[in-house]
Amino acid sequence: MKILVTGGAGFIGANFVRSTIASRPDATVTVLDKLTYAGSSESLAGLDRTSLVQGDIADRDTIEPLVAEHDLVVHFAAESHNDNSLNDPSPFVQTNLVGTFQVLESVRRHGVRLHHISTDEVYGDLELDDPEKFHETTAYNPSSPYSSTKAGSDLLVRAWVRSFGIEATISNCSNNYGPYQHVEKFIPRQITNLIDGVRPRLYGAGANVRDWIHVDDHNSAVWTIIEKGRIGETYLIGANGEKSNKEVVEMILEGMGRDKDDYDHVADRPGHDLRYAIDSTRLREELGWTPRYTNFADGLAATIDWYRTNEGWWRPQKAAVEAKYAAQGQ
Ligand SMILES: NC(=O)c1ccc[n+]([C@@H]2O[C@H](COP(=O)([O-])OP(=O)(O)OC[C@H]3O[C@@H](n4cnc5c(N)ncnc54)[C@H](O)[C@@H]3O)[C@@H](O)[C@H]2O)c1
Repeated sequence: MKILVTGGAGFIGANFVRSTIASRPDATVTVLDKLTYAGSSESLAGLDRTSLVQGDIADRDTIEPLVAEHDLVVHFAAESHNDNSLNDPSPFVQTNLVGTFQVLESVRRHGVRLHHISTDEVYGDLELDDPEKFHETTAYNPSSPYSSTKAGSDLLVRAWVRSFGIEATISNCSNNYGPYQHVEKFIPRQITNLIDGVRPRLYGAGANVRDWIHVDDHNSAVWTIIEKGRIGETYLIGANGEKSNKEVVEMILEGMGRDKDDYDHVADRPGHDLRYAIDSTRLREELGWTPRYTNFADGLAATIDWYRTNEGWWRPQKAAVEAKYAAQGQ
């Protein structure tokens, strides 16, 4: 099977390529990635049956010939960082909307199966005590340029299924953690700050709740949907990993042998969603998927170990990320 993975040099895409190559001897993978600040060819180092094409999904002349020669497209490429979307929304509109449009037009023209990767952030947020979690029929209510452009990309996929009969599935997943995640993101930033002897910083009181899932569980769910999912259907991916940001920082501190109160609070960011929580019943009951990492503390310990032993991967990004946060008072 020839698989085109867009955004495969980013965090989740690179883990997807790694697990696919390890578990599927019949698979060859082409990664199409623009190699923005968020992508790294190092994340794919040492992989057999994998090639990397540097290019933009929004460029028809790049994407179309690649789609034409593959059996499956798994579409991870996106601008993915909420904070960046508040500072400059334009690459979010360009990649997440125009880029997805070009992916859709290419799979339509060449009759290639597509799986579109999206986020639970399209649903907006929940109250802390809301009994209802997000499910497949929850109304879209995005808060930021990031989540609204992802919401738009999902709607484009649905429309291309209805209007043109393309063979596509969609998944909306909760917050991922694990190896190869950029140090601008919450968990790697805290871990690498602690490695550098810097006190972690927490937005506001840290009451915001995220539903954490290990990246390998996200990717095993993606394969389950590709193989067993119904065309045109949306599946929510989550592993019942709800934790407040305060709890996560304290667990990281304890996991790294520090006092759990050893952190500072910084001003919250505008529109910061309060709580995300996923109901993944459809995926579990219809398709029989279950997560492997059911204990967040174990997955977190493995992630801390990975950042400790792979400093060469994250070190080149670290100073620039911290300088940017410092300029924003964070
Ligand atoms: N990180 C999460 O917790 C999470 C949760 C749910 C869903 N998602 C979704 O998963 C996908 C991957 O997220 P991630 O965290 O790995 O993001 P990431 O930012 O780490 O990686 C994105 C990759 O896309 C590439 N890219 C950006 N613009 C491109 C373009 N125009 N053409 C080609 N490549 C381009 C980047 O170079 C990078 O390698 C995204 O669609 C995101 O919305 C992420």
